[in-house]
Amino acid sequence: MSDKIYDVPAEWTTRAFVDDAKYNEMYARSISDSNGFWAEQAKRLNWTHAPTKIENTSFAPGKISIKWFEDGVLNAAYNCIDRHLPKRANQTAIIWEGDDPSQSKHISYQELHDEVCKMANVLRNRNVGKGDRVTIYLPMIPEAAYAMLACARIGAVHSVVFAGFSPDSLAQRITDCQSKIIITADEGLRGGKKVPLKNNVDAAVAKAGGVDWVVVVKHTGTPVNMDPARDFWYREAAEVVTTECPCEPMNAEDPLFILYTSGSTGQPKGVLHTTGGYLLFASMTHQYVFDYHEGDIYWCTADVGWVTGHSYILYGPLANGATTLMFEGVPNYPSMSRFWEVIDKHQVNIFYTAPTAIRALMQAGDEPVKKTSRKSLRLLGSVGEPINPEAWEWYYHVVGEARAPIVDTWWQTETGGILITPLPGATKLKPGSATRPFFGVVPEIVDADGKVLDGETSGNLCIAKSWPGQMRTVYGDHARFEQTYFSTYKNRYFTGDGCRRDADGYYWITGRVDDVINVSGHRMGTAEVESSLVAHEKVSEAAVVGYPHDIKGQGIYAYVTLMNGVEPTEELRKELVAWVRKDIGPIASPDLIQFAPGLPKTRSGKIMRRILRKIAEDEPSSLGDTSTLADPAVVTDLVEHRQNKK
Ligand code: PRX
Repeated sequence: MSDKIYDVPAEWTTRAFVDDAKYNEMYARSISDSNGFWAEQAKRLNWTHAPTKIENTSFAPGKISIKWFEDGVLNAAYNCIDRHLPKRANQTAIIWEGDDPSQSKHISYQELHDEVCKMANVLRNRNVGKGDRVTIYLPMIPEAAYAMLACARIGAVHSVVFAGFSPDSLAQRITDCQSKIIITADEGLRGGKKVPLKNNVDAAVAKAGGVDWVVVVKHTGTPVNMDPARDFWYREAAEVVTTECPCEPMNAEDPLFILYTSGSTGQPKGVLHTTGGYLLFASMTHQYVFDYHEGDIYWCTADVGWVTGHSYILYGPLANGATTLMFEGVPNYPSMSRFWEVIDKHQVNIFYTAPTAIRALMQAGDEPVKKTSRKSLRLLGSVGEPINPEAWEWYYHVVGEARAPIVDTWWQTETGGILITPLPGATKLKPGSATRPFFGVVPEIVDADGKVLDGETSGNLCIAKSWPGQMRTVYGDHARFEQTYFSTYKNRYFTGDGCRRDADGYYWITGRVDDVINVSGHRMGTAEVESSLVAHEKVSEAAVVGYPHDIKGQGIYAYVTLMNGVEPTEELRKELVAWVRKDIGPIASPDLIQFAPGLPKTRSGKIMRRILRKIAEDEPSSLGDTSTLADPAVVTDLVEHRQNKK
């Protein structure tokens, strides 16, 4: 923890939409007159039928129901494109920067309109309509944005799957939402390396079944297998359709998208977001948190395969008529200066990235940063995991030259948009703290028994009241929605995060308190990695925990018990890493594997993860009480052979 405080720079208090007094006034009203506040905010969107009912939500046990603006009618694509055309047809909507630094292009709002309509017509020609699910497995190319907005335009529900996921992970997500159509590319390109997307789709579709069409965008041009009965090239289909496609009128509570995310148990869940509340919340938070003004160039480095890409590359910025940059590449290719070069090339004013990238770039020293100008930068953002004060200070002083405030934004796939964050013209900054709640957000810190704690305290973070961007359900499994988020603590939404509140009422997120780990800002369920490991024929049992990792935030530490008679060798260790990588995707690769003759279990057979975490953290002296173990001797062996010894 850091006790430094950075005041709001003088020019920000005057230029920003919100200063401290306005924050307090707006926040108070968002709570005391929630309906009035949100009714007014709803006016930022164009509705074909303006909502007269505002909030209708219940967190009561057995009656979890979340509806906002429920009689409103609108279309998300209309709000992100068409309504801007009278004023902004020639303004750049998307700046695309390729993996290869010589590749970039500007897409105007008019071009975006035309491309989205073409994609929408291609989908319509394959009988995709309102409510149908469309799986999108694309790299960071403009077609990913066209595909998402095309779905929104015709009322189809997109499910974007991050292009780093394996065929099996993709198959699982196709099956869960039963999509009949997949949009992909021949290959992806990241850091100069090709990713065989179409081959992955072929394998996934063979496993999932039920897919009628695969739309293929030609990107690298490498020849790929095309099934004439199922697969077709996007460009050929787009040539024969028009650039006009009407927007489907959608109820505010009609689904906009499904996005799969990992939890403590079982397979990833399909987080469902609906149209009105989500779009309103994404647009409003984008404006206030990034203090977005007309003409600003805004860059969020996330991938559209994650929620950050949905809300803050696409929906929020475009709903606000912004210019949003979409980057195909990685921070260290072709050099460690890439981010800063892109900022100079496109004169980026607002830059939003993840702590893991900041830490990796920080390790390369100041020189790759300092050789670039970055004069255009006005505001910096951080998201995805707690940012350690050292990385915060480096980001602030070296990247931002102490000119640009940092907004450390806490939120989740489930929350749709940012919930705890500084507002740059209003909030004094403390390195490592996400600071204060956004409008309408009521954080609560509770103890293990669910008692709400006041004042300076720490415990588990809950949110007491609904907000418009909240997820509505787990796709196809409302009981799981209630069980996951509303059963640990009654009448409130449980985030799964631990949190501290300081004497100034600032919130400090301390990380997950459940069996979810956060690896380079990517969420991973330990149960998913365990079930992948035990699917290997030589593995009898596995337990996975997170451990502190200098760059990734958390690394994946796997304890593996082998089948009788199997030798624990270096080759087998590598084989198991490759196995998980292939099974789930590179982001799930274990960093450390410890072969364990036995795992610490209670007499009833429950694995004591607390002990495994401490060993993985290289803190064998603070294992706590081990007397309830069935066989305390296993711990001695585990400690002796731990992989993370400093
Ligand atoms: O643990 C918190 C962490 O990321 C989790 C949500 O992950 P995901 O749904 O993948 O969404 C990531 C992008 C919004 C949270 O439960 N997290 C996210 N942002 C922060 C954070 N932890 C600390 N500080 C943050 N700013």
